[in-house]
Amino acid sequence: MNLLMLSPGFPAEMAFFTRGLATVGATVIGLGDQPVSALPDTARKALAHHVHVGSLADEAAVLQTVRDLTEHVRVDQVECLWEPYMMLAARLREEFGLSGLNREQTEPFRDKELMKTVLDRAGLRTPRHDSTETVAGVWAAAERIGYPLIVKPIDGAGSADTYRVDSVSELNDVLPMIRHIRRVSVEEFIDAEEFTYDTVCADGRILFENICWYRPRPLQARSHEWISPMTIALRDLSVPDLQAGRELGAAVIDALGFRDGFTHMEWYRKADGEVLFGEIGARPPGGRTVDLMNYVTDADLFTGWAEAVVHGRISQHLDRRYNAATVFKRAVGSGHITRHDGLDRLLAECGGSVAALDLLPVGAHRRDWRATLISDGMVIVRDPELSRTIEVADRFVSELQLYAS
Ligand SMILES: Nc1ncnc2c1ncn2[C@@H]1O[C@H](COP(=O)(O)OP(=O)(O)OP(=O)(O)O)[C@@H](O)[C@H]1O
Ligand SMILES: [Mg+2]
Repeated sequence: MNLLMLSPGFPAEMAFFTRGLATVGATVIGLGDQPVSALPDTARKALAHHVHVGSLADEAAVLQTVRDLTEHVRVDQVECLWEPYMMLAARLREEFGLSGLNREQTEPFRDKELMKTVLDRAGLRTPRHDSTETVAGVWAAAERIGYPLIVKPIDGAGSADTYRVDSVSELNDVLPMIRHIRRVSVEEFIDAEEFTYDTVCADGRILFENICWYRPRPLQARSHEWISPMTIALRDLSVPDLQAGRELGAAVIDALGFRDGFTHMEWYRKADGEVLFGEIGARPPGGRTVDLMNYVTDADLFTGWAEAVVHGRISQHLDRRYNAATVFKRAVGSGHITRHDGLDRLLAECGGSVAALDLLPVGAHRRDWRATLISDGMVIVRDPELSRTIEVADRFVSELQLYAS
C-alpha cells in the first residue's frame, strides 16, 4: 500500500501521524514544501520517499508533480491532516480515482456557512446564521438574526477576526476591522459552555470518541492575554451532561457523510441543557489535543488514526483512564523570558499529576499569544478524578507565572 502524505513534517504533529502510517505497514511517500533536510527526524525515518515541491498552494504544479510520480510508482491513498491543503488532497484523490473525501465532500468542512446549511437540512440545531460579502449584507443579516451576534470569517481559525457584537453601534465599530475579509459569517451569539467532540472513524463507524471542555470559552481566551486557557479531555463520556453532545456529534458525522479519519467538532451546551453545533473539521484538533487524548488513554492515537485509515480498525486498547488538562501559559511583559515563578513549589506539591511540561526556557523570546494557542508554554496534568484534575490545573493557572522583559 503506497500512501501519499501531504506535508509530512509540518505542523509538528504531522511527523507523528507519518510515523504512525509507517508503523502500521504503509509505504509512505511524503509530499511537501519542506526539503528532506528540513523534515523532523521522526517524519524522515518513516518516509520511503519524499517529493519536495516549491509550494503546496500551487495546485496545478503539485498535480503535475504527482502525475510524474505515478509514472514510476502507484499511489493507493492520499492523506492530509492539515486544514489548508484538504482541498488539494481531495483534488488529487479525484484525479487518481482514489477513495476518501472528494472536493464536494470536503467543501462543507471548509466553508462554515455551507457546513451549517447541510446540517440544518438534516434537522440539526445550528446557531441562526447567514453569510455575506457586503457591508449592506452584514447589516441585513444583523437585522434578521438580532443581537447579540458573532461576526467571523467563513473559513477562520484560532478565533482570528471573530467579534461578539451587542448593538448597532458596536457593529459600526467592528465593520472597519473586518473589511479585509471577503466573506463573513454572521451568527446568533450562543451563551454557553463550549466542548469538542472528536473522533477517529473507519468506513463511517466511530472507532474512538473524545470530548474536551474549554475553560474559558475560546473567544474569551483569545481576547485577554492574562488568561491561561485550559482544555480538559474528559475521562467519563457516559455522564448524562454529555449525551446530547455525543448524539449531535454522531449525527453530524452521518449528515456530512464522513467515513475515514479524524474529525474535530465544537459544540455548545446552554445552561438549560440545549446543545448546538459550532463547527467541524475533517482533521484532528490542534493545540496538542492528540497528546491529551494519549494521556487520557495511555494509547497512541497518532498510530490509532493511521491504523484506522489504512486497515479500517484500531487494535490498541482505548480505555479512558484519566481526565487530562492542558494549561497554556502567557508570560507577563514582553521580550525574553526572565523567570518561572511558582514552578518548583507546584512540582513539589503536585508533580505526580504532571504528565508533560513544556515551557519556554529562561532567555527564550516570547511567542505571539494571539497567533499560537501554545503561547509561552504548556503543562499537561491528569488524574482519574475530574475534580482533582481541575484543582491541580487551576493551581497551574493561578500559581505558575512566567515573566518576560
Ligand atoms: N455563534 C457563536 N456564539 C457564541 N460564540 C461564538 C459563536 N461563533 C463563534 N464563537 C466564539 O468564537 C470562537 C471561534 O469561533 P469558531 O470556532 O467558529 O472559529 P475558529 O476561529 O475556527 O475557531 P478555532 O479556534 O477552533 O480554530 C468559538 O470557540 C466561540 O468562543
Ligand atoms: Mg473553533
